[in-house]
Amino acid sequence: MYISTQPQTTDISLAPENEEIIKATLPIVGGAIEDITPVFYRTMFKKHPELLSDLFNRGNQRSGEQQKALAASIATFASMLVNPDAPDPREMLSRIGHKHVSLGITEDQYQIVHDNLFAAIVEVLGEDVVTPEVAAAWDEVYWLMAKVLIDFERNLYRSADVADGDVFRTVTLQEKKQLSHNVVEFTFNGVNFSDALPGQYVSIGVELSDGARQLRQYSIVGTTEETFTVAVQRDGEVSSFLMDELETGSQVEATLPAGDLVLQDDDAPVILVSQGIGSTPMAGMLAALVARSATGGVPSVTAIHADAAPETYAQRDITESQVSALAENGEARHIVRYRDNGETVELAKMAEEGLIPQGAHWYLCGGSNFLQNLRDQLAEHSDALSPKEIHFELFSPNDWLI
Ligand SMILES: Cc1cc2nc3c(=O)[nH]c(=O)nc-3n(C[C@H](O)[C@H](O)[C@H](O)COP(=O)(O)OP(=O)(O)OC[C@H]3O[C@@H](n4cnc5c(N)ncnc54)[C@H](O)[C@@H]3O)c2cc1C
Ligand code: HEM
Repeated sequence: MYISTQPQTTDISLAPENEEIIKATLPIVGGAIEDITPVFYRTMFKKHPELLSDLFNRGNQRSGEQQKALAASIATFASMLVNPDAPDPREMLSRIGHKHVSLGITEDQYQIVHDNLFAAIVEVLGEDVVTPEVAAAWDEVYWLMAKVLIDFERNLYRSADVADGDVFRTVTLQEKKQLSHNVVEFTFNGVNFSDALPGQYVSIGVELSDGARQLRQYSIVGTTEETFTVAVQRDGEVSSFLMDELETGSQVEATLPAGDLVLQDDDAPVILVSQGIGSTPMAGMLAALVARSATGGVPSVTAIHADAAPETYAQRDITESQVSALAENGEARHIVRYRDNGETVELAKMAEEGLIPQGAHWYLCGGSNFLQNLRDQLAEHSDALSPKEIHFELFSPNDWLI
């Protein structure tokens, strides 16, 4: 298991001459990310086709928005280096580092990303803008950020006692269970992931019919010492492959559990808010809370879930039984809102009805619009909701996080 540390961002600074250059060119580079990104990936995948077929999510490559995340995060990091009031990017770096270790990224690959990204920046902005001085300043930004990530990722690998990048394990499908029309639960054996932190995910790798090895992340909903279980909703190529091609006994690759949206180990109330298949990390956290309640006290738990209709809420029964188990020894409630009934998640209204404990850890997971809406509600009604901390997971890279 990875021991959760934080990326180290203190004491990082740019050479004074580069600071001025970054300040002056940040608007130009930041404003050109949408043009730089496709050129970067196109050149990198031309030289290293194996990265697109076997490592990068080729579904994300079809979506410009998700493609932007890598380059946009460098611009965000640059703004933190030159603006003392900018927020510390530790949360962003932690998310990236966990994603990288879940894919087995290693230090040597940083040079490949560097070379292709910088070639793209020159191609898009031209050598008049990207003078040798400007290139040197951005180089320093890149390697400062790369170093934070490389160190953080190496620490994670070390803490799990594995060599850098050695995270792939072969697992065998033990059981496949249909939870709803388009959600199937898969239980794999062959590894002991029982020390995964509640809320973490694994990357599952499959070989598709054209020979590409594609990886996708799936949150762990439960473990034993021999098995782990994920719940997958049908979407594009990998989820459909899992549903249509895997039978009991089939083997796939799974990586060591990673991810920093994890249940905090304190007594503050827990509020889980999910939508659709975003219920999976919550199910993992509820399972851990139920296990904890067998041996000691657990905080008050409020599980709020939004879905289209009762029959599309794949984890309804399991959540209901987990919440009932928690309610036997403490305070726990399950609140559902179904869109087909015209219902929405209105947090301020729930607070007025006395359903929202104060000073809670909030864990949010769902689609991009849902999460943005929740974050707006939490900001607008911060007095009534008074969260202790807000943690969230998005199932796709997204540059508004950055
Ligand atoms: C941390 C994390 C945890 C996650 N946990 C879970 C989980 O527990 N359960 C779960 O089900 N999922 C989870 N996901 C999402 C999962 O990793 C995959 O993203 C999801 O299964 C879709 O992958 P896919 O290969 O099926 O779809 P992809 O082929 O990657 O396609 C993704 C989407 O893009 C669309 N698309 C593809 N190509 C095109 C195109 N040319 N034009 C337009 N649209 C296109 C597809 O229709 C689809 O909607 C998680 C993701 C993350 C990051
Ligand atoms: C300083 C250098 C780097 C930065 C700033 C960076 C940044 C990012 C960001 C922001 C994400 C999205 C995280 C998320 O929201 O899920 C990401 C994901 C990813 N990164 Fe990196 N990264 C860097 C280096 C690398 C390297 C060297 C590789 C390996 C070649 C790599 C491979 C990936 C992959 C495969 C993903 C998953 C997304 C996908 O498959 O589409 N990254 N990175």
